[in-house]
Amino acid sequence: MHSIFKNSIYFTKTVNMLKALYDKDVQTAKHCLAVASYMSVFFNKYASTNFDSDMIFLCGLLHDIGKIKFPSYLFSDFIVSSEDDWNIIKAHTIYAKQILEASNFPYDVVKIVFQHHEKKDGSGYPLSLSLKEIFIEARVLAIADCYTALTEERAYRSRVASQDAVKILVKDNRWYDNRLLRVFIENINDITLQAESLYNFYFYKELREVFNRDHVKGNAEKAL
Ligand SMILES: [Fe+2]
Repeated sequence: MHSIFKNSIYFTKTVNMLKALYDKDVQTAKHCLAVASYMSVFFNKYASTNFDSDMIFLCGLLHDIGKIKFPSYLFSDFIVSSEDDWNIIKAHTIYAKQILEASNFPYDVVKIVFQHHEKKDGSGYPLSLSLKEIFIEARVLAIADCYTALTEERAYRSRVASQDAVKILVKDNRWYDNRLLRVFIENINDITLQAESLYNFYFYKELREVFNRDHVKGNAEKAL
């Protein structure tokens, strides 16, 4: 297994941002790594066009970075109940754009992260774009985001089994690029297997200073 973006000039900035997100909410930071892993496998194995694998991985890792601006009560076991809360939640793509632009991330990363809640039928946010206006990377991000969120445990519900998550994606197919969704679903077992191994590689090795800090700390203490 090789590191996808260890040598990227954005590595340190990304690590620091993920640490800030992890401190706010561990679950959200783990979700970002899961989405990055699924996107990475999808593009590596099934993309028909050229793409930048560092950029794809960065988009997944940073897609919910705007949530570092959320008040703490909006995380974990929170269920949206008011219009005001919903408006803050929807603003996370705008916050992400501001944060990534301020840190000089590439234009492609900014625009893809900014679009990850846009939907094919124009019901997404923040711009209600149509399918043609949504970048292909953002369309894949939306599918990976939904699938991983469903199959993750939440405080207010247990995890959804893979085959049930697939059924939900199909039921909601008016939101997704159907060609990409078909490829994702047809290969879901293979994608999941590889994404899980990529996730573990980053969780325990390449990004352990974010996700496995006790382990890193333990090693440092032993070395003293
Ligand atoms: Fe999001």
